[in-house]
Amino acid sequence: MRIKTDEYATPAKPPKSSSMSIVRGAAKDCTACHLFKHATQTVFGEGPKTAALMLVGEQPGDYEDVAGEPFVGPAGKIMDRALEETGIDRRQVYVTNAVKHFKWEPRGKRRLHKKPNSREIAACRPWLEAEVRLVRPSLVVAMGATAAQTIFGPSFRVTRERGKILSSKLAPRVMATVHPSSLLRQPDEESRHREYAKFVADLRIAVKAAKAK
Ligand code: URA
Repeated sequence: MRIKTDEYATPAKPPKSSSMSIVRGAAKDCTACHLFKHATQTVFGEGPKTAALMLVGEQPGDYEDVAGEPFVGPAGKIMDRALEETGIDRRQVYVTNAVKHFKWEPRGKRRLHKKPNSREIAACRPWLEAEVRLVRPSLVVAMGATAAQTIFGPSFRVTRERGKILSSKLAPRVMATVHPSSLLRQPDEESRHREYAKFVADLRIAVKAAKAK
C-alpha cells in the first residue's frame, strides 16, 4: 500500500509548561498532521485561564483561519448571542476547537469547510488536553459531533446525550450540545427558532453546572 505522505498525522507534543502563552506559542508551529500546509495559521483557544466554562467546537472556519481567533464568523455570532441570553459574556468563557487548523477544499474561489478525519482529530487532541490541563474548567461543553466524539469516542450521539452532565477521560465534567453552525443550516424560520431555543436551554444547564462547582 502506498502511504500518502501529504496526509500524515502523529499526535502533537505540547510543552509540559504551566504557561498558556508558551503552549499557545508552540502550537503555532504544529506540524503534527498535514492540515497546517493549507491553513493560514494555527487557531488556538482563547479566553481567561480562570474560566469555569470551556466551549469546544470542531475546527476553525474560513473567518477564523484568517483572523487567527476561534468562533468569530457566523457560527460564533450565534454562539455569542446564545451565551448572552444565559447571562454570560463570551469573554468570560474559554473557547477552542478540537482541531486547530482549517481543513478545506476549493470550490471556485471559495474555501469549503471539510470535516477533519479521525487521524487529524487524534493528532490535535494533545493540544485540547493541554488547554484543559491549564484552564481546569468546571465544565467542558462539546459543541457538535466532532468535539463530542473527540471526547467520548465515535459511538457517542449528541442527539441522545445532549444536555447531560457526563464524565470523560479528558475532563471530569463534560456536556454535549449541537454545533451553533447547525442552527444556521435549519431549513425554515420555525425550526431555526426551535433549535436555537434548545441550544440556549443546553447552555443554561452548562452555565448552572459550571457555577455549581
Ligand atoms: N466552527 C467551529 O467549529 N469553530 C470555529 O472556530 C468556527 C466555526
